[in-house]
Amino acid sequence: MSGNLSKAGANPLVRAVTALVIVAFSLWLLFHVNPDSSYLWIKSIHVIAIISWMAGMLYLPRLFVYHADAAIGSDKSETFKIMERRLLRYIINPAMIVTWVTGLWLAYMMFDFKGGWLHAKILLVVLLSGAHGYLSKSVRLFSQDKNTKSAKHWRIVNEIPTVLMIFIVILVVVKPF
Ligand code: HEM
Repeated sequence: MSGNLSKAGANPLVRAVTALVIVAFSLWLLFHVNPDSSYLWIKSIHVIAIISWMAGMLYLPRLFVYHADAAIGSDKSETFKIMERRLLRYIINPAMIVTWVTGLWLAYMMFDFKGGWLHAKILLVVLLSGAHGYLSKSVRLFSQDKNTKSAKHWRIVNEIPTVLMIFIVILVVVKPF
């Protein structure tokens, strides 16, 4: 079952077409969208994407907490694998890309990449993306039954996106410096 799933997930054509669509959309966004009329629309898309990204980033380590305690080969463990892979592939990954594309558009078009708050925010979002990478790698390890970390470890990891999100939102809304 897990073999079939990994095959289905690795469709290179779908991935290539998705990547091309995202690159084309980003270029169009950057060069053809008028900042005066589009600022609030792009910001809305940004916030919608952030909500989806964060929902996944908070839920995935929670799944790992329960998955870490499930017996290898059990129905429960196999179900967690499917849930984790689908959450990552269909929610977390696309939402992260849309957050980055719209965030960089806002930063460039509206703020010319200027402002201490913006630089600090981008740094924290890079850290958040690092956490994303770590969770993504962990989905792969869980899918191969190679997780060595305890449920307690995943409980602690669960707090990282929460803390980063709090500081990111304060930076962009309050703009303290
Ligand atoms: C990928 C890198 C990101 C960049 C370059 C970026 C940049 C920006 C910029 C320039 C704005 C417009 C600010 C304004 O109009 O005052 C904005 C809005 C916002 N961003 Fe991001 N952002 C990124 C990712 C994120 C993430 C990961 C979060 C949350 C976890 C986030 C939360 C927000 C919120 C809540 C707003 C709306 C603020 C408001 O309207 O007052 N952003 N972002």
